[in-house]
Amino acid sequence: MNEKYNVYDLLGPERLEEVVDLFYGHVSDHPDLKPIFPDDLTETKRKQTQFLTQFFGGPPLYTEEHGHPMLRARHMPFVITPARADAWLSCMAQALTEAEIEEPLRSAMFERLSFTARHMVNHSNNAA
Ligand code: HEM
Repeated sequence: MNEKYNVYDLLGPERLEEVVDLFYGHVSDHPDLKPIFPDDLTETKRKQTQFLTQFFGGPPLYTEEHGHPMLRARHMPFVITPARADAWLSCMAQALTEAEIEEPLRSAMFERLSFTARHMVNHSNNAA
């Protein structure tokens, strides 16, 4: 990425929201993810949009409302296997493609999200 603009500046709030919407559309269809998410994803989407805004360099919307993200701790109530991290990332890859996020933005986003998704893993595959 160039030095002047971060991912959020290049993406903008509307496209970020579009990615989040597309992403949760896939999550709610995924047999391995659907069971651990609420049926109504309205609040989940709202929080994720706030989080990704700050994660990609925008204003700290998530922290302002919810405090320090402590993302790994907040995911501890859920069984997150390597397979579920892969599933999460495949939903995100589809969302980034469908939202037509161009390179090198797309890869920059996906790489950062991949790193964080791996960090969320808290069970081995056979523990689910
Ligand atoms: C919340 C699953 C990775 C960000 C949640 C929730 C689940 C979940 C079940 C609770 C939803 C709700 O009750 O509303 C997973 C799984 C992942 C994963 C299976 C696979 C690795 C990630 C990653 C990020 C992320 C990579 C950020 C880049 C969030 C945020 C919340 C959340 C911000 C809301 C936390 C809150 O309650 O304030 N996730 N997640 N998750 N997740 Fe993930």
